[in-house]
Amino acid sequence: MEEKKTYYVTTPIYYPSEHFHVGHCYTTCIADALARYKKEKGYDVFFLTGSDEHGQKIEDRAKKSGVSPKEYVDPIIADAKDLWQKLDIDYDKFIRTTDPEHVACVQKVFKKLYDQGDIYKGTYEGWYCTPCESFWTESQLVDGKCPDCGREVKLTKEDAYFLKLSKYQKQFEEYLESHRDLMQPESRYNEMVNNFLKPGLKDLCVSRASVKWGIPVTFDPDQTVYVWVDALTNYISALGYLSDDETLFKKYWPADLHLVGKEIFRFHTIIWPIILMALGLPLPKKVYGHGWLTIGGSKISKSKGNFKDPREFIKDYGCDTLRYYILSEVPFGSDGNFSEELMVERRNSDLANILGNLVNRTITMSNKYLGGELKKIQVTNDLDKEVIDLLNAMSGDVERDMDALDIPKAIECIFNSLKRLNKYIDETEPWILGKDEAKKDRLNDVLYTIIEGIRLCALQLKCFIPSTAAKIFTYLNTEKTTFEYQRFGAETEYEVVSKPDILFTRIDEEELKERLAKEEAESDEKVEHLSEIAIDDFAKVELVVGKVLQCHKHPDAKKLLVSKIDIGHGEIRQIVSGIADRVKPEEFIGKKVIVVANLKKAKIRGVESEGMILVGQDKDGNLDVLKSALDTGSKVS
Ligand code: MSP
Repeated sequence: MEEKKTYYVTTPIYYPSEHFHVGHCYTTCIADALARYKKEKGYDVFFLTGSDEHGQKIEDRAKKSGVSPKEYVDPIIADAKDLWQKLDIDYDKFIRTTDPEHVACVQKVFKKLYDQGDIYKGTYEGWYCTPCESFWTESQLVDGKCPDCGREVKLTKEDAYFLKLSKYQKQFEEYLESHRDLMQPESRYNEMVNNFLKPGLKDLCVSRASVKWGIPVTFDPDQTVYVWVDALTNYISALGYLSDDETLFKKYWPADLHLVGKEIFRFHTIIWPIILMALGLPLPKKVYGHGWLTIGGSKISKSKGNFKDPREFIKDYGCDTLRYYILSEVPFGSDGNFSEELMVERRNSDLANILGNLVNRTITMSNKYLGGELKKIQVTNDLDKEVIDLLNAMSGDVERDMDALDIPKAIECIFNSLKRLNKYIDETEPWILGKDEAKKDRLNDVLYTIIEGIRLCALQLKCFIPSTAAKIFTYLNTEKTTFEYQRFGAETEYEVVSKPDILFTRIDEEELKERLAKEEAESDEKVEHLSEIAIDDFAKVELVVGKVLQCHKHPDAKKLLVSKIDIGHGEIRQIVSGIADRVKPEEFIGKKVIVVANLKKAKIRGVESEGMILVGQDKDGNLDVLKSALDTGSKVS
């Protein structure tokens, strides 16, 4: 028997987060849709996701909660799995970096690289804050002090291991010349080459003595493996690489596709391939760096409070509404806006109107006029032929778009067919045919064409909105639900159900707007009246380091300055602040300050202000702007 072709697709492994948001759902939904599609196409698919559980941050958070790091992460991972289940994510394996098999694999990889001379011991030098037990680089210090606690820091060296990235640079560059597909989309390839490869790769620090919550280096137990070698290795440890049983590894490696967000693209397209090269393993076929889901232009993130638990959306609108919106709305590769209102608009217009209505009214008419029974047709009519040709072309178009990883376009193809079927109903007017006994045959042809068209569309929709597709198949009462039957006419007879449920009820958009406005007003009120806040409330404030690009006096107010501030990721904010008696505009330019980035826009004396600059005030009322030496765009928490 011929062996099935394999397809190995991965998401990044997620940091344990108490606040998973729709941004996290994005990569996972895409991977799920691709995995389902390839399975449907007959591939032997392995879809991997998981969690990245080590590091100082987790250790700190666990300490604050008074539990061990493992005790801290366990419920969070259970919660992540619950979210994936509610979102209908059908992964083949969920790997945790705390899994003993992963730990063993990382240790063997580290030892192998050390034994062959690709990892060497050196010294890591940095500014150490003893109370915080943290290393800082020179540029991270604030006025020469610890940026976290403001105390003195000491220039300290500690032993650490380094990976010889530089040794493999040339070999990697040569490889890239004939494997452009490794870095997708093309724009990110250019960025990697120009910003990282051309300036020359520096060796990478891959262990720490000061971080305890991590995988110990076997031959030097004071050291733990430092984040990326631990995290990236998940893609092969999950398949049993270097274990007693390498069957899965032999079968699925190299990965066909690593899907990652753009901020971690570099790790996946430079560091990971070089680790693999050093191990003598084939490189992944493709790494795709997608954009972010944003809200009001900023990345959705837990520290911004601009998110809701995705399960609230699933509860209110169903899992397929969320999947459909995430998968169809964002042009792949670019950032895309997320809004609950827009999601509901799309549900109403696409899922309820174009798809749901078509299904319900066609089934209703089939029952009303033909007792729910339809028979395969002989195609003679030109209009039918045109519609059927379009339906038969759909699977090829979807395949082309899925191969190009253009999911929104694939979905658009299917919706074009659905729209055509709706138009076909208007053109053929089955309700008029139904009144005339002599036109029963024509009516059968028309309704069969639509029902068979719906089946073909549902087949293609299966990987995007699986539970809706399954419902449609039940309503049509058909078992021809796999790609084997993706030609028009594959189902020869229908006996559709008599009373299908509405697939998607319409949501009142005005009511939703009112509810959202009310929720916002309530949350504003709450903040005003709280004397004590919980950590979650503080997490709603998005603090970032911004660099002052321009600054001038407010035209109408002596105490105010108007500054243009670069807050990173290409965003420039205009901010009005009452610091004119303390700060000279010309001296303020170039300073790095801390900005509240998610404050509602306001007009201050006629000038728009999009944020706030943090200042401190001593007991005599003297103001000073809080400065930071961290990179522009750094988060402050
Ligand atoms: N643990 C690392 C990955 C290690 S992979 C060997 C990590 N974790 S993460 O939880 O911060 O992010 C996981 C994925 O979620 C990333 O691909 C990231 O881009 C994605 N997203 C997180 N927020 C996002 C949006 N707002 N929009 C789209 N994707 C985003 O990085």
